[in-house]
Amino acid sequence: MSASPPVVTFVSRNAGKVPEVRAVLAESGVRVHWRKKEFVEPQADTLEEVVAAKLRSVGGISGYVLVEDSGLFIPSLHGFPGVYSAHFLEVWGFAPMLELLRRRSRTAYFRTVAGLRHGGRQWMFVGEVHGSIARRAVGRGGFGYDPIFVPNGWNRTFAQVPASEKDAISHRARAVRKVGVFLARRRA
Ligand code: IMP
Repeated sequence: MSASPPVVTFVSRNAGKVPEVRAVLAESGVRVHWRKKEFVEPQADTLEEVVAAKLRSVGGISGYVLVEDSGLFIPSLHGFPGVYSAHFLEVWGFAPMLELLRRRSRTAYFRTVAGLRHGGRQWMFVGEVHGSIARRAVGRGGFGYDPIFVPNGWNRTFAQVPASEKDAISHRARAVRKVGVFLARRRA
């Protein structure tokens, strides 16, 4: 029988992600400690490269350590803002994106890569949710791009629904749920 601990240290600067990660890992009986950390993100083309760099920088923390990186990808903008999602939102907000999409396909998806580390071993898990960009920002819940993202089959943005509804289908929930299943199997 393996002695995997039921606790994961989630390292992130973003407080908005913590309740989501906590709720989803609770489904697998895993508890979450949040360690707030501002990562120096590398110049990278993929979420996987960013996550690999984050995993390297949390090597000193014992037990299971979880990091993740997410982005909003818009195919009609050649995948932009993608790995630059945080920077773009901080500098520009929603307005230029909504303007650019007035005459382009509004199809978009969120993608999360979750990285798990335990000692010298590491694993990555991917989650995506597909949908479209709303014509204007709506809703007060969530964080980041939630007010402009409408998942396929919905007529509301992520910011208009209770957290539990976002957690049922979100990119982050899908990646982190895989982490929970993985940890539960290792403990079994
Ligand atoms: P990062 O993973 O913290 O680097 O996130 C990249 C950018 O995407 C940030 O601006 C986040 O606010 C945004 N983002 C990440 N996940 C979500 C989400 O679930 N909803 C809305 N925006 C998100």
